[in-house]
Amino acid sequence: MALSFKHLTSAAQITRADADVLLSTAADMERVIKKGGNDLLKGSVLASLFFEPSTRTRLSFETAMLRLGGQLVTADGLQFSSLYKGESIEDTIKVIGGYADVIVMRHPDSGSADKAAAVSPVPFINAGDGANQHPTQALLDLYTIQKECGKIDGVHVAMVGDLKNGRTVHSLTTLLTLFPKVHFTFVAPDQLRMPGKITSLLEEKGLKFDASSDLTDAVAADVLYMTRVQKERFDDQSEYEKLKDAFILSANHLKGHKTIVLHPLPRVNEISTDVDELSNAAYFRQAANGVPMRMALLAGLLRKV
Ligand code: NCD
Repeated sequence: MALSFKHLTSAAQITRADADVLLSTAADMERVIKKGGNDLLKGSVLASLFFEPSTRTRLSFETAMLRLGGQLVTADGLQFSSLYKGESIEDTIKVIGGYADVIVMRHPDSGSADKAAAVSPVPFINAGDGANQHPTQALLDLYTIQKECGKIDGVHVAMVGDLKNGRTVHSLTTLLTLFPKVHFTFVAPDQLRMPGKITSLLEEKGLKFDASSDLTDAVAADVLYMTRVQKERFDDQSEYEKLKDAFILSANHLKGHKTIVLHPLPRVNEISTDVDELSNAAYFRQAANGVPMRMALLAGLLRKV
């Protein structure tokens, strides 16, 4: 697999050819998992650096590496990191690039991933930089849409919640512009609308979107992508308190609809647990898809497939 990028910091770097090869390799990787893994990345070390909390992204990257026979070194929490002592991101990455074969990093600052990639001697993957981008989540979301809907072309995707600060919806919308006739409904409170930087990409590609403040406008879509209001991005916590429960999806909303419900997780209140029992609920399957997709990406960047 020849990916067009050496480092992955933004979904905008992913070409249609990259997306196609990653989708098909992820499907192959699901078969590898079922057979108990392999040794494709034996001898390779992943450094996972999480300077912001993570459960799914970190553990699924680490699981992906272990399933392919690789090994890992890991650092999390700013208090344990050299960044806490005042070291620049660039210096940290140059040092860790001397230890490991591939680096995955999550960091609270938007733009930190580009800084790291600019100096990284080994493939660098952005696992979320502030409110900016989260391209590997977009890849696993894309894979989930393909599996759950049987297609990507022409799908109607409704995104709901904190579209301003949610990096997953920025990356997923960007990635979906590679597919013809995909269209969008963006449901958010006025204060949390999708940034113009993202909607202008849709305008450039001639893809349709509409904006709404009403959750019922989202339930007829093929995919309903719920998001958490991003507490950590608010300077004013009283503003967060006002907006945090703006949209709460319950089983009632979904009556008579086949909409596939996705959520990058963690959920707080935005999906009632009564949705979990419905066939619409695909968010736990979505989380599991993170492993095969990240296996595909690691193997591709390390030039082993
Ligand atoms: C998301 C993130 O970190 O941006 N989580 C994840 O990676 N699965 C979404 C979120 O935290 O709300």
